[in-house]
Amino acid sequence: MVSTHPTGVQHSGSQYLPPSRSTEANASPNQELLPLTARVHHHDFLQIGGCDVTTLVKQFGSPLYILDEETLRLACQQYRDAFKQYYKGESQVLYASKAWNCLAICAIAASEALGIDVASGGELYTALQAGVNPEKIYLHSNNKSREELLFATESGCTIVVDNWHELKTLIEIAEKGVPLTASLSPRIMLRLTPGIECHTHEYIRTGQIDSKFGFDPNELKELFTFVSKQSILNCVGLHAHIGSQIFERQPHRDLAALMVDWLRDALKCGLNLTELNVGGGLGIKYIESDDPPSIEEWVKAICEAIQEACTSENLPLPKLLCEPGRSLIATACVTAYTIGSSKVIPEIRTYVAIDGGMSDNPRPITYQSVYRAVVANKMSFASTETVTIAGKHCESGDILIHNALLPKTEPGDILVVMGTGAYNYSMASNYNRLPRSAAVLVANGEANLILQRETYQDLIRQDRLPERLKI
Ligand code: LLP
Repeated sequence: MVSTHPTGVQHSGSQYLPPSRSTEANASPNQELLPLTARVHHHDFLQIGGCDVTTLVKQFGSPLYILDEETLRLACQQYRDAFKQYYKGESQVLYASKAWNCLAICAIAASEALGIDVASGGELYTALQAGVNPEKIYLHSNNKSREELLFATESGCTIVVDNWHELKTLIEIAEKGVPLTASLSPRIMLRLTPGIECHTHEYIRTGQIDSKFGFDPNELKELFTFVSKQSILNCVGLHAHIGSQIFERQPHRDLAALMVDWLRDALKCGLNLTELNVGGGLGIKYIESDDPPSIEEWVKAICEAIQEACTSENLPLPKLLCEPGRSLIATACVTAYTIGSSKVIPEIRTYVAIDGGMSDNPRPITYQSVYRAVVANKMSFASTETVTIAGKHCESGDILIHNALLPKTEPGDILVVMGTGAYNYSMASNYNRLPRSAAVLVANGEANLILQRETYQDLIRQDRLPERLKI
């Protein structure tokens, strides 16, 4: 077994191996490092979803995102089942598609009876194109354009209004009457800043008072009174989100209780609301020392807090929504890279370079995020080398993993980085004009392409060369 220091540095031993399990074992995907279908076969080779990883790379190219359908579906089911078990009222789990928004993933989430949280017109368009019922789509963002608000209103999705500017723009849109649907009244929720701090990277904290998101909690009375008078708006509930990659349950319990207070205050201002959306935020295990609660434990904590608060306030249970992203999709995906050059700097460091980096996974350079990796064609080899996994971008900071403990590698070996389903493809760029990688969905030994690899032609598709510059 690999042992891990709390700093995330690995110490001696073999490579990380997938735990042996029967397919029925009910692990919580966010507490695992590898997708649940990961196995070692033919002694040395990593298999996911019944597909050999090295064969997938030969077939679909490198780098390659490999998404395990079973792990994703199990995470969806665990959220859904936990709400059924612990909440006495109505509930709806939304997939926060900012984690990874594409047609296939929206379709899988919808087929598991999840709704979709979208954060822009582009994400909304994708969800609609995937066939998601607009009644189960919720649009976020702190600065939705008039066009986005119009698009959302016409589509019939729910708009999570973030500020006064959006509120007033929506009223204008509604008063003018949206073409084709004259009597349409936008279905909205109000996003409030909860003022709850949690322990996570400052860039992914959102709940503190000094946040760009949501209405200031000091103006709730004015807000609720104003909205209660807008008969043209169909305001159904309240929303808040405290941050992402959170391991503590208490901030989520506190949020739940606070939101019930807001519900009571809204009622007092004449605004009769029936829905609460507590956001997302449950963390995942990126390295061995990470210890997030399970999906079930997280849902249970929230349901209990809402139910207790409603009982003590003597309020009926609201429809309860949540919108996890990372904990649904991160562990379901790995990224496979091909190892190329290496550089040994005696007594300092050995760099091993892969054929991707900050363009396909910007999280290490943005948040100093830590990842684990294995060599997919050397699964039974002992880990004997501590190396720095470098990306191929022209930037010294393009380091994917510091101090990775791996078997001795050679050019052509396949490095698999775990936990890359969330905020990797969705934050990918074309830095240095690297084409975006392909993604395949694997299940029962079958692999389907869900995102095609970009080509050099794709890279210049939006370029225009003015006549006078032509050589
Ligand atoms: N709801 C709202 C309103 C959000 O802003 C977010 C994430 C979520 C739900 C989903 O949170 P999750 O369950 O995934 O933690 N790019 C950063 C994460 C940014 C999170 C943005 N909002 C990262 O790579 O860590």
